Amino acid sequence: MINAPKGTKDLLPAESYKWQYIENTAREVAKNFGISEIRTPTFEHTEVFLRGVGEGTDIVNKEMYTFLDKGGRSITLKPEGTAGVARAFVENGLFNSALPVKLFYITQCFRYERPQAGRLREFHQFGIEFLGSKEANIDAEAIVFAKTFFDKLKVTGLSLYINSIGCKECRGKYEDALKSYLKANIDKLCPLCRERFDKNPLRILDCKNEDCKKITDNAPSIIDYICEDCSTHFEKVKKLLDLSGVEYKVNPKIVRGLDYYTKTVFEFVSENIGAQGTVCGGGRYDGLVEQLGGASVPGIGFALGIERLLLLMSSIGVEIPNDGKVKIYVAPMGEKEAEVAFTLVNGMRVKGIVAETDHMQRGIKAQFKYADKIGAEYVAVIGSSELAEGKVKVKKMADGSEETVAITDLVEYMLKA
Ligand code: HAM
Repeated sequence: MINAPKGTKDLLPAESYKWQYIENTAREVAKNFGISEIRTPTFEHTEVFLRGVGEGTDIVNKEMYTFLDKGGRSITLKPEGTAGVARAFVENGLFNSALPVKLFYITQCFRYERPQAGRLREFHQFGIEFLGSKEANIDAEAIVFAKTFFDKLKVTGLSLYINSIGCKECRGKYEDALKSYLKANIDKLCPLCRERFDKNPLRILDCKNEDCKKITDNAPSIIDYICEDCSTHFEKVKKLLDLSGVEYKVNPKIVRGLDYYTKTVFEFVSENIGAQGTVCGGGRYDGLVEQLGGASVPGIGFALGIERLLLLMSSIGVEIPNDGKVKIYVAPMGEKEAEVAFTLVNGMRVKGIVAETDHMQRGIKAQFKYADKIGAEYVAVIGSSELAEGKVKVKKMADGSEETVAITDLVEYMLKA
């Protein structure tokens, strides 16, 4: 037997309706916010991520699935959605359309990480990217969108943390202050954070190592260092969230793991799903489009991990409706009856009723067993006498009650059932 590669998962029928529900809800909420779908390739030229995500990040340094294709090009399976969307925005001249351009995607992503609960090597993101506006109200809209989506799914217990990591100008000053604070304790930092000290000191703030956490607990806060423009922007985002009734906590330790962020960053975090508790993360990236060869176009977005979302929904007991359940199983008792059943179920399917019949020449007892296994709500039995009278017996499986219905009325009957 050949197994699926480590860190990947088959999506089986018993689970796929949950994914469809999440994806349908995502599309529906996106529609109400005027957000259109974009689908970009599963792989990109590696440079898109080197320039986009950034060479100082864990993703680029350690986690990318990169290979040379048969033409000798360096190709990378997308580790996230934003850089590819920004590349497509530039390449397809979307900046010429009415701004802001509001996009969403549902895509698989690939990161070579150590698999554990909520962390896979192939996983799926639902994300949005708003391109073209530098205004704080679109930052707030992105966050309100995420909250609306979670509410629609009846997902509770997520904490929203927001922060501003400033712009190119003010962040430098903060990094200097942070480094001079950390210098005294550099030997106590974990090996990874010692590496980060020069390359990407901000990331030390969100290290999960307890010793690093203790050291950074009293570190200077970036909020005290951001410039007036960034500060005004952040205040406005907060005000709009307040006005929208979205609860949040300002957490100066939220810095995100990708290089493209500027100003607003945020995460929705759950305490219910173990170490990989960040279900959704995002922020503003005002330099990314330019970094990828486009004009200076600001952007903001987020992505949430669908696997983590499902873990959370299961841990808090959210019921996911399964509208693919078989409504009626038609059980024929002979060859002639099977022909009637065949046309009958197809007629019902056309009317939107989920209907099934026998494909295995089972006896009537085995058909009932099968109907039960597939969760059919009703079973209609067609025997020779029923056929002669043009009627079927319809049994409600939940309580065993039975009604005789004319075959010609069955569609109407089931539509009301
Ligand atoms: P990210 O924080 O790297 O951000 O990933 C977003 C979400 O993807 C995470 O919060 C998590 O739910 C999920 N995720 C990440 N890695 C894994 C994994 N190995 N297994 C399962 N789930 C995972 C981004 O990707 C940014 N592109 C978000 C963004 C969009 N920022 C602006 N626009």
